[in-house]
Amino acid sequence: MRCGSARGQLLLLFLVPKLLLHRLFPDVRYSLWIDGKLKLVKDPYQLLEIFLWRKNVRLAISRHYRHFDVLEEVEANKSGGKYDNASIDNQIEFYKREGLIHYSSAKFLITSDVPEGCVIIGEHIPITNLFTCLWFNEVDRSTSRDQLSFSAARSKIRSRVLFDN
Ligand SMILES: *[C@@H]1O[C@H](CO)[C@@H](O)[C@H](O)[C@H]1NC(C)=O
Ligand SMILES: *[C@@H]1O[C@H](CO)[C@@H](O)[C@H](O)[C@H]1NC(C)=O
Repeated sequence: MRCGSARGQLLLLFLVPKLLLHRLFPDVRYSLWIDGKLKLVKDPYQLLEIFLWRKNVRLAISRHYRHFDVLEEVEANKSGGKYDNASIDNQIEFYKREGLIHYSSAKFLITSDVPEGCVIIGEHIPITNLFTCLWFNEVDRSTSRDQLSFSAARSKIRSRVLFDN
């Protein structure tokens, strides 16, 4: 699996450490990534215990505080005026063609399509490495809004893996 070629300094500075930690530190088993706006106040081992070990999961990502639906987040992003509407529309049209639909409880066990992306706690094993690589490739290919590409990367990996849930 090739991790996409990084486009621009921004991607390298922010997204490589966020999504490709397993490439920077191949021998590390667990990692905890937190956004600059947060401050770590707990023992990191306690966080691994709470979010991974106790639940027997491999990767934990914070959910968006308000939106669960990518299409809603897109509208919020557009009204926020932070980005160019056309580039957001292109990205989202592409995902719709790939099958993106509104979030609903029918998607359960999935509890949200929109991450907040400020906390990522993971065990570095092939499946989580592959997922963050796919996510990184998606960001590299489209735009730096990793919240919008998260569910596309997740669908890709779900279509290739059999889940026992
Ligand atoms: C972008 O879209 C939003 C919401 O759809 C709209 O409120 C805003 O005026 C648009 N911005 C531009 C520059 O067209
Ligand atoms: C828009 O997108 C950015 C990046 O994905 C995100 O940080 C921001 O919270 C989003 N929402 C709004 C309302 O702008």
